[in-house]
Amino acid sequence: MTKPNFDEKIDRIGTHSAKWDALETRYGLSPDDGISMWVADMEFKPPQSVLDALGGMVDHGVFGYYGDQTSYLESITRWMQKRHNWTVDPSWIFTTHGLVNGTALCLQTYTEPGDGVILFTPVYHVFSRLIADNNRRLVESPLVESDGRYEMDLDALESQLTGSEKMVIFCSPHNPGGRVWRTQELKAVCDFCIKHDLILVSDEIHHDLVFDGNQHTVMSLVTPEISKHLIMMTAATKTFNMAGGHSGNVIIEDPDLREMFSATMKAMGMSPNSFGVVMTEAAYNGGEQWLGELIPYLDENRRVFDAGINAIPGLRSMELEATYLAWVDFSGTGMTPDAFTDRVQKTARIATNYGPTFGAGGDNFLRFNLACQKAVVEEALARLTAAFSDK
Ligand SMILES: Cc1ncc(COP(=O)(O)O)c(C=O)c1O
Repeated sequence: MTKPNFDEKIDRIGTHSAKWDALETRYGLSPDDGISMWVADMEFKPPQSVLDALGGMVDHGVFGYYGDQTSYLESITRWMQKRHNWTVDPSWIFTTHGLVNGTALCLQTYTEPGDGVILFTPVYHVFSRLIADNNRRLVESPLVESDGRYEMDLDALESQLTGSEKMVIFCSPHNPGGRVWRTQELKAVCDFCIKHDLILVSDEIHHDLVFDGNQHTVMSLVTPEISKHLIMMTAATKTFNMAGGHSGNVIIEDPDLREMFSATMKAMGMSPNSFGVVMTEAAYNGGEQWLGELIPYLDENRRVFDAGINAIPGLRSMELEATYLAWVDFSGTGMTPDAFTDRVQKTARIATNYGPTFGAGGDNFLRFNLACQKAVVEEALARLTAAFSDK
């Protein structure tokens, strides 16, 4: 494999990139001068195997319906076995148009309008939007910060329950904050869902982006009893930077839960998008070395970013155990969220995700995407240091 060059700057302006081409309309920033550190995709090309597979499709030139998923499903089961020690039967796997779509399908399959759906907040902001758009009731269980890391408070959550809660949507590893949940924490979540008869949707889209010294445990492996409650969600799109391929795996071991999900898929007329499926197979089969190069690169960006941020009085970056999504606490500045956001956006000219959109506990935070060239991280730090120089 030729070594990927993650330092290579790739111009994405004018390519229908949500991250860059919406910079002006969403943030009032010129893409020529602004730094886009919001939405979670990377500034890197995917593994060569993915580019070759897509190139092969273009050379062939006929883009008909996708059929015979055998090799695609095998690529997923092999990856889960090798990387996550998780034995998956191909018949458990459903292909959705990404995991936002997968989450929406879960809400529609396993809950009714008005049912309570639990989130540990702050968490990936689209979950709460889906809950609202599907007319379900959001139940927020605020994470508690302890020694700079998020922890769940299941006793507090238990006292909030009304009996109409039907589902937990869980993010593992956690976005934002990058927690890799320890096995005993996952076991406590499983026990909670079993005790209260809740469906547990475990979104593990970030499970390949884990830094050395941390061990991700697939929820399915925590305890066999959880299988009657568990919907697993994984994807190659975040790992290998191909989110535009909109392809995700919803993996369900329990036959009854599987039958219910299958009925929803049928009712919605869902079938796979061949580009996403071909990319996924090529990434799982040929992308492992690329991923081996990526993780240390992201780790170095995280180290540089944290050192720079923590040197600015009043700012603190939560130490990531996984993901490339830095979560920065501005409460030490004594500024209001509007004021510090203005400084970051208007003075430093950096687009981030706003903390309050992630739910309770996010007010004093901004989320920065570090999956970019290291030089861009350094430029962002220089701008932030100057913007907060009076603190
Ligand atoms: C936890 C989580 N789930 C899902 C998604 C998006 O998934 P998809 O692009 O497959 O819809 C993201 C994107 O950042 C995410 O962080």
